[in-house]
Amino acid sequence: MCGIVGYVGERQAAPILLDGLAKLEYRGYDSAGVCVFFNKQLHVAKTKGRLAALGEMTAQGSGVPGCLGIGHTRWATHGAPSKENSHPHVSTNGKISVVHNGIIENYLFLKEFLRSAGKTFASETDTETVANLVEYHYEREGALFTAVKKAVAMLEGSYALGIVCVDDPERIVAVKKDSPLIFGFGKGENFIASDVPAILKHTREVAYLNDGDLVVFSKDSVEFYNTLGERTEKVPEHIDWEITAAEKGGYPHFMMKEIHEQPKAIRDTLKNLTQDGRVTLGNIELTRDYLSGVRRIYIVACGSAYYVGCLGKYILEKSCRIPVEPVLASEFRYSQPVLGEDTLVIIISQSGETADTLAALREANSMGARTLAIVNVVGSAIAKAASDVIYTCAGPEIAVATTKAYSTQLLVMYLLAMYIGDIMGTFKKREYDEVFQALQALPALISETITQERLAEMQACAARYCKHHDVFFIGRNVDSATCMEGSLKLKELAYVHSEAYAAGELKHGPISLIEENTLVIAVATTAELFDKTMSNVKEVKARGANVLGLTTENYREEIAKTVDSLLTVPKTHPLLQPSLNVIPLQVFSYYVALARGCDVDKPRNLAKSVTVE
Ligand code: AGP
Repeated sequence: MCGIVGYVGERQAAPILLDGLAKLEYRGYDSAGVCVFFNKQLHVAKTKGRLAALGEMTAQGSGVPGCLGIGHTRWATHGAPSKENSHPHVSTNGKISVVHNGIIENYLFLKEFLRSAGKTFASETDTETVANLVEYHYEREGALFTAVKKAVAMLEGSYALGIVCVDDPERIVAVKKDSPLIFGFGKGENFIASDVPAILKHTREVAYLNDGDLVVFSKDSVEFYNTLGERTEKVPEHIDWEITAAEKGGYPHFMMKEIHEQPKAIRDTLKNLTQDGRVTLGNIELTRDYLSGVRRIYIVACGSAYYVGCLGKYILEKSCRIPVEPVLASEFRYSQPVLGEDTLVIIISQSGETADTLAALREANSMGARTLAIVNVVGSAIAKAASDVIYTCAGPEIAVATTKAYSTQLLVMYLLAMYIGDIMGTFKKREYDEVFQALQALPALISETITQERLAEMQACAARYCKHHDVFFIGRNVDSATCMEGSLKLKELAYVHSEAYAAGELKHGPISLIEENTLVIAVATTAELFDKTMSNVKEVKARGANVLGLTTENYREEIAKTVDSLLTVPKTHPLLQPSLNVIPLQVFSYYVALARGCDVDKPRNLAKSVTVE
């Protein structure tokens, strides 16, 4: 949500800023802008809409010359997407320019204060308040660094800020709290950015800024300060991702690329979290002593990560016999959860920056619960704040709709179940070995699920059903949790209204919505419940529904007699089956979205990292 890039060096800043912002497009945005220092002035170019429009407006950056600048992609919170509300914002007297990711909660109070001090406002944003507040202090202090410190002390809310001053043509000041910001160490040039892909082309040495950190940098110097204003050192962390990992690599969309990267993501995560036939979970240690005292596990997350938590409930309860409760992070923090030393709170987040999830994690920490984060982005805020971290190795996920991160999070659910179940004696050795073996085969089975032939079948189903407006996903047990993810995918990618229901629940209300031709997607892969789900399928068929069935190869013939269309997946160990079941639902939504002319990688109104509440 909002992307920031800052550059100072000897090269032209604007093309670097535009390119960096393009790498942050996945975060979601509706307008973009740059501010570059040139000829003793700050030159701002900004516009509503896509980066291509900004590129055109600035002749791909060459129209805004200068070697120091800040750039921004905005995801509207305060004020509609418009040129006026786009960043960078410039202060009343043109001294200060600011880009911001986050929300200034006390901006109305600050605006009044600044208005009474003679400052004026051209936008509806909270960010313009920061530009004016820094200018207010700058006019009194005469130094940008002190002005920023004084301004930041008055801010309430979340922010990553890049700030430049017309009187300080060689330096950028950046500061962060509760919104991500990294510093990139270059040679004769330096960078800031919201995320690594924005600057990976230029440097692999980065520092993740902590909350309260402030950095002042020029092309050949950098000074870091902590929240107390003391000088600190940051040891650069080396990023070893391939640049192509953040690019499309021949696929038409990042989402399709990431669907195909799932076998590798599973393999890499498995490699990291297992050793010699055993689940190790990396560096974490949950002892028998500790686990014996755990009375409840909460799994707290948002969106797809929450749906992994819903699957986690079935997986962990079955294997470990400990009560597990999945909770939406946005609800958890305000629900006065009963937490203490006997509660383990598992936090799941791809980005590691989701504001609601981070707040829930902090709440759990403050109440004395042990927190275990499952995170994809190394060094992210959630990874830093949790008692323990398990990293998924999905690599950078760019498409807004998650696929490979979801799959690796689900893998960690199995591994946790095996790890805890083994320690507690609830996961028997024979099954442990069987599942471990099945895990090794999982990447190949995922590849088998997305062969050209199978993709063509999924595309044909999408073509057949892409005009439907209301869709019901039904399934039982783990299949019902997979339905939730399938339904979310269809909503976010194809803008199709859909609902996920536990199949047995239909007759308690929703079946009244089934009429001639209503599309029902029935997921029926759980052996013990197959017949029961089929009864529900017959109930909706009897009311005129058009049913797309999703099942395992072994049920093909049986289900084909009842449903209108059919997709199948290979069969694996029952514990791991959800990993295969979700794939056709990802691909189906992808093709429905394409057929409906939707922007698959950047669906409307959505952001990859939801860093505001
Ligand atoms: C999934 O396709 C969504 N884009 C969204 O639900 C996402 O899973 C959610 O916002 C949580 O994000 P996180 O994993 O980065 O915390």
